Amino acid sequence: MGGEETEPGYPIHTHDVLIIGAGLTGLRAAIETVDAGLDTAVISKVHPLRSHSVAAQGGMNAALGNAQAGDSWEDHAFDTVKGSDYLADQDAVELMCKNAPGAVIELEHFGTVFSRFPDGKIAQRPFGGVMFPRTCYAADRTGHNILHTLYEQLVGREKSGRITFYEEFFVTSLVKAGDPAAENGSGRNERCVGCTCINLADRTLHGFSCRALLLATGGFGRLFTRSTNALINTGDGASLALRAGVPLKDMEFVQFHPTTLYGTNILITEGARGEGGYLLNNKNERFMEKYAPKSMELAPRDIVARSIQQEIDEGRGFDDKYVLLDLRHLGKDKIMERLPGIRLISLDFAGVDPIEAPIPVQPGQHYSMGGIAVGNNLATELPGLYAAGECSCVSVHGANRLGGNSLLETVVFGKIAGQEISRAFYFSSSGARVRAGDKKAEDNKVGDKIAVLDKLSEDSGRINQLLARD
Ligand code: FUM
Repeated sequence: MGGEETEPGYPIHTHDVLIIGAGLTGLRAAIETVDAGLDTAVISKVHPLRSHSVAAQGGMNAALGNAQAGDSWEDHAFDTVKGSDYLADQDAVELMCKNAPGAVIELEHFGTVFSRFPDGKIAQRPFGGVMFPRTCYAADRTGHNILHTLYEQLVGREKSGRITFYEEFFVTSLVKAGDPAAENGSGRNERCVGCTCINLADRTLHGFSCRALLLATGGFGRLFTRSTNALINTGDGASLALRAGVPLKDMEFVQFHPTTLYGTNILITEGARGEGGYLLNNKNERFMEKYAPKSMELAPRDIVARSIQQEIDEGRGFDDKYVLLDLRHLGKDKIMERLPGIRLISLDFAGVDPIEAPIPVQPGQHYSMGGIAVGNNLATELPGLYAAGECSCVSVHGANRLGGNSLLETVVFGKIAGQEISRAFYFSSSGARVRAGDKKAEDNKVGDKIAVLDKLSEDSGRINQLLARD
């Protein structure tokens, strides 16, 4: 992790590709760039296995037709567009849904331990707002399983010398090179050539120089008091992009999950309702029959969340704060096999064993549909800068994401981002220019930025974090 020392005395690390964020999107992209032969660095403010993807529970959608014959990617795409209130971009939805079955099979071949039906096929459970049960899962720890799989895949590639992890490094700014006033064919003459970071372990400053940079930093749920998101989900990628002059899109579309644990707002998966759990108000009524008599608890999640809140607002909640999610009728065996994680969460954080008592739940912020504006190739307006996963808006979710489409987005678009970057690296003319001669200039540019940061330092080893992010 040494890096080349520059004039101000800070290390500059040079890699072909920088990936910011080590969740599912970042790791899936890294597999592509490493396999394409590119020297890739993954920078993460936490250990990769602490990325928020690890908390994803219920599953990942793909029209495999294992639970019910007749499903197709077209039906998946239709459900996705309808669920989005017809505001998703349909070409992006098509790309995602067509790639979904292949993405699940690829993960399985990588080593993900999906739950199985007795016939050996990958199990699929029903989720809200869809025509077919198409959510593939690993009990209620799907994100955990997939994140470990992808991380292991990259650790297995470490001997190639093309993957470096910078753990607990916090990115403070993107670095651009070129003359912002000059125009070129793409409308601007700047490109993203790196970033500046603080190593959180020792608070030293580092510069990173690259050919292409992918933001895969997740959402901004922690803007909200009640959120299923980890404390790390503070919208860093969107902020970095915005401060570099790159537009965001659809920021008003924020999703609230219907069932978060009262008290801590930890996610209680939609899979619990998919397996047959139901919601009760303080009159012991299954109130969803008033709001969605056909689909009941498996109506789209915006409808279920609003219905719960209406029950609470109109005095039919408990302590005016929550309703109950009842799983008792599923029985101990099913709960232990399919929902062991939420049983432990309920026990540890609410003192409730769902085998014996209903779980207190309330809606909470869950997902950011909007983000950094990108096209289907995951490129932003700024050459060299890409974004994918929850921090981006390729616009597959419109105003409301379907449960199970988030994990799918991470692996499908993470892979495409890695492929697009690999292609651009080898073939784009601006890329060739950078590779041929401008490397030194870019390193100096990163050095300049760090010299500015240095002026903000309280002393040579410490830095005022608020000023540094300005
Ligand atoms: O309820 C859940 O397990 C969440 C899934 C999702 O947001 O995709």
